[in-house]
Amino acid sequence: MPQSLPDRPASPTLLVAGTAAAIAAVPGALLAGLAAFEIVSERAAAILAAAFALAGTLAGLIIYRDLARLVLVLKRAEVGLPLEHLPILPPLKRIAEAAGRLADTLRDRTSEVDRLAGAAVRVVEGLPDPLIVLDAEARPVMLNGAARELFTPPAAEGPDLGALLRHPGLRTAVERAGRGERPEAVSVTLPVPVERELVAKAIGLDPPLRNGGRILVTLSDRTRERRVEQMRADFIANANHELRTPLTSLLGFIETLRGPAAEDREAQQRFLAIMAQEAHRMSRLIDDMLSLSRIEMMEHTAPKGVADLPALARRTIEALEPRIAARRMRAELSVDPAVQPIVGDPDQLAQVVMNLIDNAVKYGRDGGVIRVRVFATPAQGGRPAGVAVSVTDDGAGIPRQHIPRLTERFYRVDVARSRAIGGTGLGLAIVKHVLNRHRGLLDIESEEGKGSTFTAWLPAVPAEATRPVAQPAAA
Ligand SMILES: Nc1ncnc2c1ncn2[C@@H]1O[C@H](COP(=O)(O)OP(=O)(O)O)[C@@H](O)[C@H]1O
Ligand SMILES: [Mg+2]
Repeated sequence: MPQSLPDRPASPTLLVAGTAAAIAAVPGALLAGLAAFEIVSERAAAILAAAFALAGTLAGLIIYRDLARLVLVLKRAEVGLPLEHLPILPPLKRIAEAAGRLADTLRDRTSEVDRLAGAAVRVVEGLPDPLIVLDAEARPVMLNGAARELFTPPAAEGPDLGALLRHPGLRTAVERAGRGERPEAVSVTLPVPVERELVAKAIGLDPPLRNGGRILVTLSDRTRERRVEQMRADFIANANHELRTPLTSLLGFIETLRGPAAEDREAQQRFLAIMAQEAHRMSRLIDDMLSLSRIEMMEHTAPKGVADLPALARRTIEALEPRIAARRMRAELSVDPAVQPIVGDPDQLAQVVMNLIDNAVKYGRDGGVIRVRVFATPAQGGRPAGVAVSVTDDGAGIPRQHIPRLTERFYRVDVARSRAIGGTGLGLAIVKHVLNRHRGLLDIESEEGKGSTFTAWLPAVPAEATRPVAQPAAA
């Protein structure tokens, strides 16, 4: 802390008397001498000495006032006020003016430093990779935008770094950085809520930042690259297996058509119909596989957009109406008026609703009823408020042991039946991945012989943009 200047000299009387004495002493002594030798009369000497003493006192007062003014000017310069009431003695006046200029320059420098520091903060904030600053006790003191986005669970107030900071690899890296050792990249896998692969580096900050920051943790998200690798491998394996089956069948029919059935018009028509069916199935399979890989690729990015689930359910039922009618089924939709639009990818959520109702049409009872309910769920036991879509059929149901595996890709209770009715075995896998991306859940309840209920639940992140703008209060 700079010491504050005192307002005035400690002892003004002493200063004035001292100045007066300094000015009047020599001429006084001289006059006394001249009077003693009777060169001037005693009276004249006394008058002259008094005049000198008066002049000395006056000068003392002026110096005293100017010093006080200089102090005031310096104080004003210190806090950036314009200079006023400058001293009148030229040397003191120059000192005051120089101090004013110095203060101006210093202020300019300070504001430049502040501007640069502000720019640095904005650069760090806007970096695409997450950055976290920890204090000496490894507590977070700062996160940039990417870090906040990565670690803030949906519908949560703020970021949650618990899992990251407990990670043994990262803890070791942070300890090393605290001891000033060279940073090394460590890979950190966070399992929940969506698995993430991060590469982290902890760098010691010496000297520490003003906010107490001692360690800088940089993270880069490798989830996407890893996912792409894994997906490529899965896709090749699945594509090979699933596409080969209809292809083998097609090749078989082609052989038959060229050979044994070459002359049999009736068999040809029958085989061509089956071939068309197989070809359609292959095409659906490719569509579903591509759709699944697209969803998986963006599974770790937060969904954007606004989804109106009641409208999605209504449109899907309308689109499936011909197939519902063909099975002499009936679809009933009930919508809870409390359901609001939520943040979500409308196309992907449409796929969820479509796959669930499509399954009810495929695996439901001939002439049965499909009940579609869209309802709001209150916050409960750590689960935030949400919106659910449930689809209930009165079909054959699913044996209990299959239920946990239904969302695996290509898993079917009855492969032949699924294939025969045009299934790809990817519908529920798509549902699961879309719900994962939305931090939602799929619940399956089924009773053999009675039917099944599939419920897709989504956290209700309210879609701000769709809320009505508050009306200004009437005057
Ligand atoms: N509503 C349902 N009733 C009975 N079984 C179902 C129902 N929905 C799905 N399943 C079972 O789950 C499997 C996987 O479903 P899905 O992934 O949508 O594939 P697909 O519909 O192409 O067969 C189905 O093959 C079927 O055995
Ligand atoms: Mg399906």
